[in-house]
Amino acid sequence: MNNTPLRTLVQGIPKTELHLHIEGSFEPELMFEIAKRNNITLAYDSIESLKKAYTFNNLQEFLDIYYTGAQVLLHEQDFYDLTWAYLTTVHSENVVHVEVFFDPQTHTDRGVPFKTVITGIYNALEKAKSEYGITYKLIMSYLRHLSEEAAFKTLEESQPYKAWIDGVGLDSSEQGNPPSKFKNVFEASAKEGYKLVAHAGEEGPADYIWEALDVLNVVRIDHGNRCLSDDALVERLVKEQIPLTLCPTSNVALKVIDKMEEHPVAQMLDKGILATIHSDDPAYFGGYMNENYYQTASALNLSKEQIMQLAINGFKASWLTEDEKEAHITKVKAYFASID
Ligand code: HPA
Ligand code: ZN
Repeated sequence: MNNTPLRTLVQGIPKTELHLHIEGSFEPELMFEIAKRNNITLAYDSIESLKKAYTFNNLQEFLDIYYTGAQVLLHEQDFYDLTWAYLTTVHSENVVHVEVFFDPQTHTDRGVPFKTVITGIYNALEKAKSEYGITYKLIMSYLRHLSEEAAFKTLEESQPYKAWIDGVGLDSSEQGNPPSKFKNVFEASAKEGYKLVAHAGEEGPADYIWEALDVLNVVRIDHGNRCLSDDALVERLVKEQIPLTLCPTSNVALKVIDKMEEHPVAQMLDKGILATIHSDDPAYFGGYMNENYYQTASALNLSKEQIMQLAINGFKASWLTEDEKEAHITKVKAYFASID
C-alpha cells in the first residue's frame, strides 16, 4: 500500500453489503438487553461468558449458538432494534447499500408471526433509507435443514409482504442438504417475482454450486469458496459473471479455511471471477464490512487496484438498477483516484 493507512483507505470506500444475516448481527450487549425486557434468562450469566462461547469448529457449531441467540427476539420492536443497530454500525463504515437476509422460520417455528418479524425489519430499513440514505433489498432465506414443504409454507406466509421482499435465499446446514432439495419451492418463488440466491460451496462440494445454478437458477452464489476445485465451474462463473459473495472472517471463524492468508479471494480475482466481500454474521465472527476488507487486504497484501475491484464488484453484483450501479461505481473510482 502507499501512503494512506489501510484502515483509513477501507473506511473511505463506498461499500455494499450483499451477504448479511440480520440475526447474525445480534451483538451480545443488545441480546442481553432484549432478553431482560422479555423476561428471558440466557444460558450465559454475562456478556463475557457468552462471547467466550463464540469459538466454532464448523458451520453447525455456529448455527447451534446462532439459533439459540435468536430465541430472545419476540416482538416487532426487537426486530426493529436488531436491524437498526446493524444499519447504524454499517452507516458509520460508509456502507451505502445493503441486501439483507432474514430467516423467517427461525422465528415462525417459535410462534412469532411472520408479520412481527418482517415489519420490525422493514421499518428499520425504511428509517435508514430516509435518515442515512442507505438503499436496501430484503432477502427471505429458507432453512435448508428443514423440508421443502416447510419452505413452501414460508413462501405462502410471505405473500402479503411481497412488495417488501426482493428475493429468496437458502442457508443453514449445507452438507447433506443439497440445493436440489428445494427445486420446486425455488421455481415457485421465481414465479412470485422473487430473485434467487443460495449458499453453496461453503462447506459443501462444488457440485452444490452447479446445482444452485442449474437446478435452482440462482443469480448469485453465497460463499462459493469450493468452486476452485472445479475448472469447468470456474470457467462458467467467469463467462457468465455470476457473483460470489465471499465472507472472509466467517471463513476463518468456521474453519472453512485455516487462516486468512489462505483465503481464495485474490486467486478468484486473478481468474476473473466476480468476487465480492461481506460480513455474513458480524456479531459472531468479529467484524463488519470494514474489518472484512481490512483483514483480507492485509493478509493477502492486496493492491489498491484489487481492493477497488472488490468494491466495484459489490455494486455490480447488487440488485440496484444499471444507472444506480454506475453512479456508485463512479464514486468508488473517484475515491480511489483521490487517495495516495
Ligand atoms: N452459512 C449457512 N447458513 C448461515 C450462515 C452461513 O454462513 N450464517 C447464517 N446462516
Ligand atoms: Zn451466510
